[in-house]
Amino acid sequence: MLIAVDGPLASGKGTLARRLAAFYGLPYLDTGLLYRATARDVLASGADPHNEADAVNAARALDIATLDDPDLRTARVGAMASVVAAHPKVRTALLDLQRGFAHQSGGAVLDGRDIGTVICPDADIKLWVEASQEVRAHRRAKELRARGETITDAQMLADLQERDARDAGRADAPMRMAEDAHLLNTTTLSIDAAFEMARQIVDAARAELPAD
Ligand code: DC
Repeated sequence: MLIAVDGPLASGKGTLARRLAAFYGLPYLDTGLLYRATARDVLASGADPHNEADAVNAARALDIATLDDPDLRTARVGAMASVVAAHPKVRTALLDLQRGFAHQSGGAVLDGRDIGTVICPDADIKLWVEASQEVRAHRRAKELRARGETITDAQMLADLQERDARDAGRADAPMRMAEDAHLLNTTTLSIDAAFEMARQIVDAARAELPAD
């Protein structure tokens, strides 16, 4: 069973995808980490994330063993991840890795912005997870403050609006809901309630799938 989970920053998609993967015993890939790691490596080499050639070199040389680096979660790396993700050649460089992970035998869960539309349009089940911008900004700012960063909800809201606009406005693989995705709005839901709704959607969709 291949499950695609997409949605904007801090919508809750990562938490849901991770929990779905654990619940159904499927391998999980947070594809945002690939763009974050690319941005981290560009910055570390002193190159410019806005320069496509610099960014594509970093994407091609990416070592996936470094995806558990806690520095990938910083606000600066997140903002630059959105910049490198807008370069078409960076997206192409990371495509095979994501498709290979998705199509391993037994299935997988991937989360990102374009999993249901570009990476795995053939996914068995697609979820689009969203929440209001204010709630998302509060969630992410709280997470970053817990990690020691100094950021207010208002600063986070401005950053998030800029990133939503860039992720949804880019020409190549813009963030958008696939036509056959199930919508899950987590604005007023606890993590447990959101997971329960996601599980019900997956179970109902799974019952319709042809037997393996
Ligand atoms: O989900 P995240 O915040 O870790 O993602 C970081 C950036 O990477 C985000 O601004 C958009 C980009 N991204 C993307 O373009 N496509 C994906 N499949 C995942 C993330």
